Amino acid sequence: MPTRDEINATQRFGTRYGIAATVMVELEQAVLGTAYGANGYTPLGQAEMLIRVLALQPGERLLDIGAGCGWPGLYLAARTGCRVTVTDLPIQGMRRAWERIRSDGLASSSAVVSTARHLPFRPASFDAIVHTDVLC
Ligand SMILES: C[S@@+](CC[C@H](N)C(=O)[O-])C[C@H]1O[C@@H](n2cnc3c(N)ncnc32)[C@H](O)[C@@H]1O
Repeated sequence: MPTRDEINATQRFGTRYGIAATVMVELEQAVLGTAYGANGYTPLGQAEMLIRVLALQPGERLLDIGAGCGWPGLYLAARTGCRVTVTDLPIQGMRRAWERIRSDGLASSSAVVSTARHLPFRPASFDAIVHTDVLC
């Protein structure tokens, strides 16, 4: 049973992720230096910092919780060769993440609709976990 917060997040962010307007991409590029449909305050430089801090390596398994449309998880996978699973509540964002996975050829990565409260993964499925601007 979803909580009220989960229902609110699904509706609020789902509406936003359903809009892939060119002007939003241009804005994101200008402000954050990215083009992933980012929806927070994590610029490219901080994503690079995650790579350094986590020492992400090719083939490692990364989980990005509350990834919206796939930022920054899909970028981290493209940059390092790690295999990412991005998760979030709104299906609209995960659809866009799947499209990006296909267009970037990230064959070992995936997008899963899920609440962070009950993640559908076995223990020890991942080498590292990130979340950006989820606890706000
Ligand atoms: C501000 S957005 C950040 C999205 C992305 N990480 C980024 O930086 O662009 C916060 C995200 O957290 C997600 N979220 C909030 N509560 C969640 C929960 N219980 N489980 C999974 N995701 C959740 C929202 O749906 C939303 O996509």
